[in-house]
Amino acid sequence: MPFAVYALRKSYAGVEVLKGVDLEVKDGEIHALLGANGAGKSTLIKCLSGAIQPDSGGLLVGTEKFHELTPKSAREAGVAVIYQDPALAASLDVTDNIFLGREKRIGPFVRRKAQREEAAFWLKQLDADIAPTDSLSKLGNAGLQTIEIARSLSMQPKVLILDEPTAALSEHEAEILGQRLLELKKQKLPLLYVTHRLAEVFALADRVTVLRGGEVVLTGPVGDFSHDELVDAIAGTKIKRDRPATTAARFAPAVDVKDLLAPGIGPVSFTVGRGEIVGVFGLVGSGRTELLETLFGSRQRHGGNVSIGGQTLALSNPSSAVAAGVALVPSDRLRKSIIGTLSSGDNMLLPSYKMLSRLGMRMPSLESTVFNKAVGRLNLRPPRMDLEAKRFSGGNQQKLVIARWLNDTSQCRFLMLDEPTQGVDVGARSDIYTALRESAAAGTSLLVTSSEPEELIQIADRVIILSHGQIVAVLQSDEIEEGRMLSLAHNLEPATTNSSKGHVVHD
Ligand SMILES: Nc1ncnc2c1ncn2[C@@H]1O[C@H](COP(=O)(O)OP(=O)(O)OP(=O)(O)O)[C@@H](O)[C@H]1O
Ligand SMILES: [Mg+2]
Repeated sequence: MPFAVYALRKSYAGVEVLKGVDLEVKDGEIHALLGANGAGKSTLIKCLSGAIQPDSGGLLVGTEKFHELTPKSAREAGVAVIYQDPALAASLDVTDNIFLGREKRIGPFVRRKAQREEAAFWLKQLDADIAPTDSLSKLGNAGLQTIEIARSLSMQPKVLILDEPTAALSEHEAEILGQRLLELKKQKLPLLYVTHRLAEVFALADRVTVLRGGEVVLTGPVGDFSHDELVDAIAGTKIKRDRPATTAARFAPAVDVKDLLAPGIGPVSFTVGRGEIVGVFGLVGSGRTELLETLFGSRQRHGGNVSIGGQTLALSNPSSAVAAGVALVPSDRLRKSIIGTLSSGDNMLLPSYKMLSRLGMRMPSLESTVFNKAVGRLNLRPPRMDLEAKRFSGGNQQKLVIARWLNDTSQCRFLMLDEPTQGVDVGARSDIYTALRESAAAGTSLLVTSSEPEELIQIADRVIILSHGQIVAVLQSDEIEEGRMLSLAHNLEPATTNSSKGHVVHD
């Protein structure tokens, strides 16, 4: 049964976020919903799931029209929504999570066997290699998403909506999820899919709609549009396409990692120069996140040394790292860095309050000057200091976390960012790239991971390729190229030794 949204409007405090949105998703169609951060995608979805009420307009599921859904009536109408963060109970097994709150019962007794059988059925539909009795701790992010989907399917929905399901997934996990969606498409379910990764749109979607400022600005079959046309529709202007620098710059030594050894890592040795942006590229399980967490002291180290400007770091815990001028923007911002109930100002300036105070007194005007400067640099929307962080769109929350370390007072000498543009739209990505380059130009050393080769091509001076916790190659400026990065990361090319300036490479 097809699914449609008509004339949907929603305002927050007088600001119109959805300005009469129409959208149709046909049976067996994967419909990609795109748009810049703050365009209104999640707001639209929340209206459909009954989490919030639209001001006017409604939706059509099959032949039934709805307005003012509650979470319960939305479920009954057959609308299933999967949010970016799986909301699962870690202490329960797969089956219990699938039936949580809707247990099959005979009198007071839960029919465990029947539940397990049905769980197995839905997992099989998804072609998932997960057992009904598996514990959640065994599963990675993709596994958790799969459980969410199985849970949704078991409610026999008429439409499945996914809000940035791949934002927290590695490229491999995203591929698996893509295959699952193609399976569902065969079963004629209408699927609405929000993503910022355009490659996924071309790989998976049949049709695409772009929202900008709460209005539909483009809709049609995916094949009708080029990559650049979609980018321009999302951004609203012709966006500048950055070109990588082609000359190898020279950097004074700053960060020196020697024989670092930790569970799943190493030994690895490399340097990051003062003002240099070093990229870390590798597949899932290559140890990207683990490497950064070890350098930040949030993960145990078994051996090796790390120094900045000749000063050896303790690497014992994150707070000593921060005190030494080392910062980490983790990949999982919602769980690891944003404090949703605090204001945007607090979220950005928390580590800086001491620096910004005079004789122990907070200085509001100084704080807002620093805040506004960072807001201008990163183009934060809305540019407000007092709004609770959870009221910002996903991409703007990411900007808040980045600004925490890129503002004038952060005193950060070595900044590590794990997938910094996760959930960030194409326009905002270039704001973040510019901010990272400015920070490098001011003398910070940066270590940046990404699962998208294109991203590192744009920002990195050098790229370290990690595989199974080891450095297999270090690519210099003009060697940084997608095919090379992928084949090295997949171990399709023999490990190379680095040509330049005594960076030690272990294979
Ligand atoms: N509870 C709220 N109160 C006030 N404004 C809100 C609230 N929720 C969302 N907004 C605003 O509505 C606009 C749309 O936000 P929404 O979360 O729908 O964007 P999005 O398209 O999902 O963006 P992203 O790609 O970053 O997730 C943003 O400007 C956001 O700040
Ligand atoms: Mg969103």
